[in-house]
Amino acid sequence: MNNLLAKRVLSNDTSDLNEIFKNSANPANISFAGGFPDSQLFPAEGLQQAYQNAIQTDGQSIFQYASTQGLPALREKLAQRMASHADVAVSANNIMLTQGGQQAIDLVAKLLLNHGDAMVVEGPTYMGALAAFDTYEPTYYEVPVEDDGMNLRMLRKTLQAHPEIKLIYTIPDFHNPTGTTMSIRKRKALVALANQYNVIVLEDSPYRDLRYSGVTLPAIKHFDTEGRVIFISSFSKILSPALRTGWLVADDQLMTPLCGLKSAIDVQSPNVTLAAIDQYLAHHNIDQHIATINAAYRVKRDAMLTAMDQYFPATVSYTRPAGGFFIWVTLPAGIDAQQLLTDVVLPQDHVAYVPANCQFASRQVKNAFRLNFTSLDPATITTGIARLGKRLTAICSTPKPAVQLS
Ligand SMILES: Cc1ncc(COP(=O)(O)O)c(C=O)c1O
Repeated sequence: MNNLLAKRVLSNDTSDLNEIFKNSANPANISFAGGFPDSQLFPAEGLQQAYQNAIQTDGQSIFQYASTQGLPALREKLAQRMASHADVAVSANNIMLTQGGQQAIDLVAKLLLNHGDAMVVEGPTYMGALAAFDTYEPTYYEVPVEDDGMNLRMLRKTLQAHPEIKLIYTIPDFHNPTGTTMSIRKRKALVALANQYNVIVLEDSPYRDLRYSGVTLPAIKHFDTEGRVIFISSFSKILSPALRTGWLVADDQLMTPLCGLKSAIDVQSPNVTLAAIDQYLAHHNIDQHIATINAAYRVKRDAMLTAMDQYFPATVSYTRPAGGFFIWVTLPAGIDAQQLLTDVVLPQDHVAYVPANCQFASRQVKNAFRLNFTSLDPATITTGIARLGKRLTAICSTPKPAVQLS
């Protein structure tokens, strides 16, 4: 029946990735693949109370259709949070509640991208965003990520060479998958470039509250003077991904068509959930909850880095993130991380990670992978990293690696 499917579906082949996630879900394996929060840390009791409160407080009306933009009371609270936690002055009218950050990415892509339109993504980048963008069949230009964020020299060159570029997608805080954070200098300079070349910036920041050391930086949106930065974030990593609730901040000119698009997709996000989150924020200290999860994630990150320092060979390099969910590992050139995973690491060591290729729009980089440190306990992290480290040591000390070179 493939001849009946749209081209955009056929070009979006995620079968390798699905296979990795399927295998890594096997409890016999230690999986560093998924980007899952620790389910022990969900504030289940508080959320249960919040749902009860919401239904009791709002009685009949909570079950009715409501506005596409989402519950005004929750948008008000998020507007205050944007000011206090991201240095972004915004009114509730410029906030839209979405079904996760994922829907917000899709909405922005739908807003801007005709088939073949040019956009910039970081290399590597969030594979879920690539999946969303792929559907609109853009022309990608990839700009490498450095320790302090996107390489702006390369970005400038790319914008100069391709004035048709419409959109830059960036993850400035504890980047998925590298864990790096964009410096203030680069945030300002990125907005200046976007102004100069008339481009929209999509700032995707679901990890910004998950900082384990250092100080929080203002959002890129803070430096936006022309309404060309769209900011998105989510409750997935700070409360629970099952709430499927994120938010998007955009100026009026973009918010109006975005509302039209959302209305055509799902009319509105589920109002009962939005009311429950509003109640949660009204009666619980979310910053205290975030401090609790940050303390736990800091221990897990440190367990992973300590084990990597101990077991990984010197020829393998990796990032040391100050927050977020992920560490990015770079292998010596020539080693194909996907093949290493499927031929050896998963079947013999029972460890999983996400190989680099599916995290690049170009699919070209092979000698790297992403590790998640939030979902497992420190002892399991150490066991998994020890196994992986021994394997990497063996592979890297073999003059011609046993795993096929790419
Ligand atoms: C960078 C980034 N953006 C967006 C999302 C989407 O998250 P959600 O739809 O659960 O808010 C994720 C999830 O892992 C992510 O890592």
